[in-house]
Amino acid sequence: MLDLPFSNERFDVVIEKGTMDVLFVDSGDPWNPQPATISKVMAMLEGVHKVLKPNGIFISITFGQPHFRKPFFHNAKFTWSIEWSTFGDGFHYFFYILRKGRRCFDDEDFIEKIQMPSISLYHEELEGEDYIFLTNIEELNS
Ligand SMILES: C[S@@+](CC[C@H](N)C(=O)[O-])C[C@H]1O[C@@H](n2cnc3c(N)ncnc32)[C@H](O)[C@@H]1O
Repeated sequence: MLDLPFSNERFDVVIEKGTMDVLFVDSGDPWNPQPATISKVMAMLEGVHKVLKPNGIFISITFGQPHFRKPFFHNAKFTWSIEWSTFGDGFHYFFYILRKGRRCFDDEDFIEKIQMPSISLYHEELEGEDYIFLTNIEELNS
């Protein structure tokens, strides 16, 4: 994931779930991640941005709260807009939707919380991969 072996602008959608999180495991203070963490996370995001088609969407499902993800997602290198939602009951997951080419550079509210249809699942179901299929990608793309 740090060096995606795909040509530029190849995918309509890239989804990651709990994989970017592993890059933060040895980041030290989450408020001030280590330089090595920053460069790995940026390498991953640059790769995702590169392989997405011009109007492609990156979906990131993570435990990382917006405060900690914003500085990475909002880097000036990226042309995507940023929206997020959250789901879970006591144990919250965050769902980010980044739309390439939709960035509004003079928008102060660059990261927008959105309402999504609620997803209600048992823990065992969340552990599986199937719940990703409950996400309507076509709806996100409209
Ligand atoms: C928390 S698991 C999530 C797995 C799966 N996406 C899911 O939701 O069940 C994190 C995964 O990231 C993988 N991983 C860690 N470092 C990676 C890297 N540099 N490149 C690709 N995958 C990596 C780990 O092997 C592990 O399978």
